[in-house]
Amino acid sequence: MAILKIARMGHPVLLQRAEPVADPTAPEIRRLIADMIETMDDAAGAGLAAPQVHVPLRLFLYRVPAERSSGAEDDAPMPTAVLINPTLEPLGEAQELRWEGCLSIPGLRGAVPRRARIRYQGVDAEGQAVAREASGFHAGVVQHEFDHLDGILYPMRMTDLSLFGFTEELARAMQARQEAAR
Ligand code: NI
Repeated sequence: MAILKIARMGHPVLLQRAEPVADPTAPEIRRLIADMIETMDDAAGAGLAAPQVHVPLRLFLYRVPAERSSGAEDDAPMPTAVLINPTLEPLGEAQELRWEGCLSIPGLRGAVPRRARIRYQGVDAEGQAVAREASGFHAGVVQHEFDHLDGILYPMRMTDLSLFGFTEELARAMQARQEAAR
């Protein structure tokens, strides 16, 4: 296994449409997934798409950390999962603003409008069909990673750039607001 180099915003691989995975259980795909898991864990991320490690294929990893779960059944804590050749559809019209970061845009966070509920399908690392419904963080992380496969980075989805900034500064501002409210 190996820790892979993560492409940062500005690299063209992050802006291209990724190609379907021809054989999800091929040895080279298995190796890529193992390396991506090591890379995501090393960077303490909650999601990582293949284009972020310079491989333009339709495959990503995601997880729902316990501290990010809303407690809803379709947003339950979930260990790292693999989704290959995914499809995604919104359930209903509802949207919500979700704070997001990205391993390709280190140090920054932004509030991104996302569909509140989605249904997604694909194939896992064993080639088994996956079909799930998701809300909350689970829905947000899947939409974020799915976007990577179409060359879309979260700032491209933002509608209010005043809600975009350095994680450190945003935390400082939030703390100042909380102190002022006390
Ligand atoms: Ni990302």
